Amino acid sequence: MPRVKRIAILTGGGDCPGLNAVIRAVVRTAQNVHGWEVLGIRDGVEGFLKPRDEGLIRLGRDDVAGTLVRGGTILGASNRCDLFAVPRKNGPPKDESHRVGKLFKRKNVAALIAVGGDGTMRMANRLQAQGVPVIGVPKTIDNDVRGTDRTFGFDTAVGVVADAIDRLYTTAESHHRVMLVEVMGRDTGWIALHGGLAGGAEVILMPEIPYDPERIAAKVQARAAHGRRYSIVVVSEGARRPKGAMVYRRGGGEGHLVDRLGGVSYRVAEELREHIDLEVRNIVLGHIQRGGSPSPLDRTLASLMGHHAVELAAAGRFGRMVALKSSGMKSVTLRTAGRGPRKVPPRGALVRAAREMGISFAAADGGDDDYAQSRRTHGAP
Ligand code: F6P
Repeated sequence: MPRVKRIAILTGGGDCPGLNAVIRAVVRTAQNVHGWEVLGIRDGVEGFLKPRDEGLIRLGRDDVAGTLVRGGTILGASNRCDLFAVPRKNGPPKDESHRVGKLFKRKNVAALIAVGGDGTMRMANRLQAQGVPVIGVPKTIDNDVRGTDRTFGFDTAVGVVADAIDRLYTTAESHHRVMLVEVMGRDTGWIALHGGLAGGAEVILMPEIPYDPERIAAKVQARAAHGRRYSIVVVSEGARRPKGAMVYRRGGGEGHLVDRLGGVSYRVAEELREHIDLEVRNIVLGHIQRGGSPSPLDRTLASLMGHHAVELAAAGRFGRMVALKSSGMKSVTLRTAGRGPRKVPPRGALVRAAREMGISFAAADGGDDDYAQSRRTHGAP
């Protein structure tokens, strides 16, 4: 057993509900079981760049008291900083990763627990390769980290989407409108798919299944023909047409001014208006999906993941990311976790279940029709 006495923790990338629950679980387990001290790194990896020890904060039980239910992260986060290429005013980006090893030596820190998405896991893997012992913990509302069945934050975001759809249904019905609900998810449609299923949407658009506006129109018109002149269409922010690009809002610069995904529902609304007479409205849920108190499921998952991260550190199993597999805590290599986003299988069980319940994906490749056809020919699988 390695002689760990002090560990550090950071929350990298965008925030999500459940981050404080992980920090709390790490602090409590480290102290209760091992008597270790925990140092928090402020503002993600930016904490390593701050002068003197301004990027560090000692975390004891009192510091994490009452944080289980709080959204955001008490440590602060940053999703625009790559330690291996830190932007400079004059000159090209500089590799500042050596600061971590130096700091850990000076402060006698034996391991880093890096809580983040796939970008953070890639960086964690590189730090590990430099000799910094790292354990990863996956977080993101997008649920797209490879190697784990779930990330915390996702359940809370899906709850927000389902609640929004519930509210939009009543007003859509009163005014005979088609409401487009734009949700987050980056390159993947997990939030759209689960949120759409939980909210009972008629159509779900997601990056993994390029859409055809005429097929959205066909679905909402078929409903209108049966007297239901209102529909809910969930639009993942990464939704696109075949060979089409994703829609970005231009930031016009670097840092917090970079281009960001968002606004595709405006485009879909325009496309849809060309094909139907019903009124079309769109709403972008945005960061509401990332804020607020974590759901009970996310609090539990985050707590178990934080606890398991300390167990891995105690066992000296560095270079690994905590993972939820078949409802149990396991781990996978950081390299696996950093291999790009985990996407929704377009022909997987969830999409099939949604199609069987009559949800359309407006699939430009005819996927919905193929499915309907195979049902007519062979009966439902
Ligand atoms: O990865 C989480 C996420 O919320 C994505 O769904 C979204 O595209 C992105 O972060 C937004 O990031 P920012 O808060 O930097 O605009």
